[in-house]
Amino acid sequence: MNKKKFRGRDFLELTDYSQEELHYLLDTARELKRMEMMKVRDEKPLRDKIIALLFEKPSLRTRVSFEVAVRELGGEVFYLGPQEVGLGQREAVKDVAQVLDRMVDGLIIRTFAHENLLEIARFASVPVINGLSDLYHPCQVLGDLLTLQEKKGKLQGIKICFLGDGNNVCHSWINAASILGLELTVSTPERYRPSPSIWEEAQVRGKKSGAQIIYEANPQKAIKGAEVVYTDVWTSMGKEAEKEERKAFLQLYQVNSHLLSEASPEFIVMHCMPAKRGEEITDEVMDGPHSVVVDEAENRLHAQKALLALILS
Ligand code: CP
Ligand code: NVA
Repeated sequence: MNKKKFRGRDFLELTDYSQEELHYLLDTARELKRMEMMKVRDEKPLRDKIIALLFEKPSLRTRVSFEVAVRELGGEVFYLGPQEVGLGQREAVKDVAQVLDRMVDGLIIRTFAHENLLEIARFASVPVINGLSDLYHPCQVLGDLLTLQEKKGKLQGIKICFLGDGNNVCHSWINAASILGLELTVSTPERYRPSPSIWEEAQVRGKKSGAQIIYEANPQKAIKGAEVVYTDVWTSMGKEAEKEERKAFLQLYQVNSHLLSEASPEFIVMHCMPAKRGEEITDEVMDGPHSVVVDEAENRLHAQKALLALILS
């Protein structure tokens, strides 16, 4: 593939990219990780580039992995936190976008409303990367796909089960499955099912790629034979008012040893972190031999280096 195809593009959701392009991103990430492990640093593809992180919500992994990635690639980066910009409050979203566009070479945005991200992308000519919105978390799932390839040697033909809330991470998994032709079972209570429009569009896309994306409300049935068990917090950032109600409805979806006894013997457990230990996942599972959660966190760095190098060099 000609890597010039990536230059200057946004990364708002995985569906912005084709199956071939996602594979190329993952191959590039694997190569950058290999070089990092051998302590070989390539030329600096982000030399003279300045990247802004504009975050409306807290972050550990996304902020640190992007800051480290930009620096390791030879660029410079600065962070604007929730108190500093007042996106849509201190000033209009499009004004923020137009001003930043005149000063920086790329924007990484974490926002409450996906529409804000779309508006920034519309008004900024520089590449805009989604560092999490209420609807999607594509950088997370890119790192997760890299982890899955490392652990299982492939992506297709692996039974993946997402349990819990049909949230932003779940949406990006549904999209990833639909593009790449994966087998994904989503198990949530009826009231926390993924967005119907995202689901329907994924089903249409999945017909072409050969994906099998299934909904199964019963977590015991959903997890049967799963080789990958994925979960995330029950209460995502911005939904704190629903915390108690969510806990009550999602209790049966807790990833614990009892539920995991139905999974395939070779299962791995994935979680994007931060985790609420004792809620969606027990300590014993999070710290257990099947857990790959810290590998996923590390792979954010490698996946995002590939993304930055391809769209910004
Ligand atoms: N997984 C993830 O995005 O973590 P942070 O919220 O800490 O960035
Ligand atoms: N679903 C979580 C993911 C955090 C990385 C949230 O949006 O809070």
